[in-house]
Amino acid sequence: MNSNTYKAWLNVPPLEDMQLKKEYSAILGQLIFDGEPSGVLATAIKELQNGVQALIGITPPLKKMSDAGGCIQIMVYTEEAGLEDWKLGREGFALRYRQGAEHSNLFLTGGSEAGVLYGVFHLLRLLGAGKPLAELDVEESPRNLLRMINQWDNADGSIERGYAGRSIFYHNGSMTADRQRIKDYARLLASVGLNAISINNVNVHEMETRFITEEQLPSVAVIADIFRDYGITLFLSVNFAAPLQIGGLLTADPLDAGVQRWWKETAERIYTFIPDFGGFVVKADSEHRPGPFAYGRDHADGANMLADALAVHDGIVIWRCFVYDCMQDWRDRKTDRARAAFDHFKPLDGRFRSNVLLQIKNGPMDFQVREPVSPLFGAMKKTNQMMEFQITQEYTGQQQHLCYLVPQWKQVLDFDTYAEGSGTEVKRIVDGSAYGMKVSGVAAVSNIGNEESWTGHILAQANLYGYGRLIWNPDLTAEEISIEWTIATFGRDPEAAAAISRMLMKSWSIYEGYTAPLGVGWMVAPNHHYGPDVDGYEYSRWGTYHFADRYGIGVDRTQATGTGYTSQYEEPNVSLYESTETCPDELLLFFHHVPYTHKLRSGKTVIQHIYDTHFRGAEEAEWLQQEWAGLAGKIDEARFAHIADRLSVQADHAKHWRDVINTYFYRKSGIADAFGRKIY
Ligand code: GCU
Repeated sequence: MNSNTYKAWLNVPPLEDMQLKKEYSAILGQLIFDGEPSGVLATAIKELQNGVQALIGITPPLKKMSDAGGCIQIMVYTEEAGLEDWKLGREGFALRYRQGAEHSNLFLTGGSEAGVLYGVFHLLRLLGAGKPLAELDVEESPRNLLRMINQWDNADGSIERGYAGRSIFYHNGSMTADRQRIKDYARLLASVGLNAISINNVNVHEMETRFITEEQLPSVAVIADIFRDYGITLFLSVNFAAPLQIGGLLTADPLDAGVQRWWKETAERIYTFIPDFGGFVVKADSEHRPGPFAYGRDHADGANMLADALAVHDGIVIWRCFVYDCMQDWRDRKTDRARAAFDHFKPLDGRFRSNVLLQIKNGPMDFQVREPVSPLFGAMKKTNQMMEFQITQEYTGQQQHLCYLVPQWKQVLDFDTYAEGSGTEVKRIVDGSAYGMKVSGVAAVSNIGNEESWTGHILAQANLYGYGRLIWNPDLTAEEISIEWTIATFGRDPEAAAAISRMLMKSWSIYEGYTAPLGVGWMVAPNHHYGPDVDGYEYSRWGTYHFADRYGIGVDRTQATGTGYTSQYEEPNVSLYESTETCPDELLLFFHHVPYTHKLRSGKTVIQHIYDTHFRGAEEAEWLQQEWAGLAGKIDEARFAHIADRLSVQADHAKHWRDVINTYFYRKSGIADAFGRKIY
């Protein structure tokens, strides 16, 4: 596959501007590196050569020393080389233009081979956007140490919550033969600075439980080799009950000596096949996955046992905090799922080994279109923590609808927890700086499959791209990222770039508008989670209720009269959320149960807000279609048609959402729309 759709954002179109082409050619014509590149550096050089070829039609030869004329000089920082006083860290890079009397050069220095690779992709991005070389004076280093992707792929080839085809890794129980596809994925990930991947679903079924065995490890190692060349470390999700299920033991008790020995031997074995193996991702005692609770042990016991097995190899355990009672009785008004992660993990602060990281979902529930930030961020000052986002659009339109998620993630990262006083934003907790954590970072659930577009909806490629760019540098704006992505994906037409960026930037608010209002969440069809079903989760065991009746709606999570969830935050956030006077409108129903006639801070009543946003959301979904139609002729036909199709599905479906939600609340409340619009 070599289409524009497949190439995604690595799609540099040839340069038409002759002046710029001349300027580029004067420098990009030769590539200097004093050594024999292998591994990641060889990858970097190949990428640079191919990128320059695509842009100006020259493949710069690799030389040890420059002939006459300008060049790009590549250097990998080592202390012995004494290049300069390097402050950019192992994965950082600098790009510097130096004007000479006769010719000019560009210096690309990396803190390691991976640093060079990131520098190459950054340079290609700038060149692709037509940036003049003479302006280049760039210093970059990633803010987060671990920048990870979680695949939820199963060995049978299916993908949990996947909306873009089947797995690129597995087919019918074996690893797929299409290594090129995996390599192309590694390129996409490395090009936006990602450096770690777990390749199987957190729900580890029978076949994947065997990935850590002698028989399966050779195939896993092949995948690790591919990613290694792009600076990406491989992790596996493991089954906590593996000693029982495949080890012939009678228990998986983390304090049992036999179990501990089994995991140590398993770790030994893994590292003989994959010497730089990253470690384990673990979903334990969560949604029926096995864990330490079965033996009367807690999460620290479980995580530490695995951590001890990995420690000698420098491996880490990423232990997920998505732990709650999924067998709740809906009649029980005291249990609040939102509280669960904090209630389970906060008391364990200080008990985890230094090579354990807790992976915490961005919100306390589960990747809804709008949630507050999980109060666990900042609550555990002695524990390594990382963020978990969901790129795959499980609750945000399943890659049928456009929903650019970078603004949402950005809001989460910018949220001030006040854990160490004002200025303790989530981004400072997950980058480790707030508490001096040695390991930390961000993970996200991938949105790709084997469809040609990778992501189902071509515009959903922006979410994968944007995720990488944002966690490399959380200070980039969502808009900057959208423009970068648009240019890299569709080319340099400024009008098209601005229009597409506008669509992306409005899309989250549009989607929220016609779906679940005011932070209440969960009005989706059970199981598959696509489309409206207001009561779909209301009388079920999942702890996901809105409590709508004829008078009002919302979940009282206050300390005064509700579940007390608000107390899990630090002040002033506790007070902010505790009172309906100060609670932000967009989260009102997450924190409070209020009458439909309650006046929002915006001045509207809740019921009128529901009607207005649903009518507006559906109209704006049509606006997306019109905006796209306006780009006819500016985008190649295949991609133009594909996106037009998706937007038309979205516009139709938005009307369905609008009518179901409005009708439901009209029938419940008996209150008419102030503008007399059509409600059924
Ligand atoms: C969501 C999702 C599940 C997934 C779970 C998790 O609940 O619907 O498919 O397994 O999250 O994150 O573990």
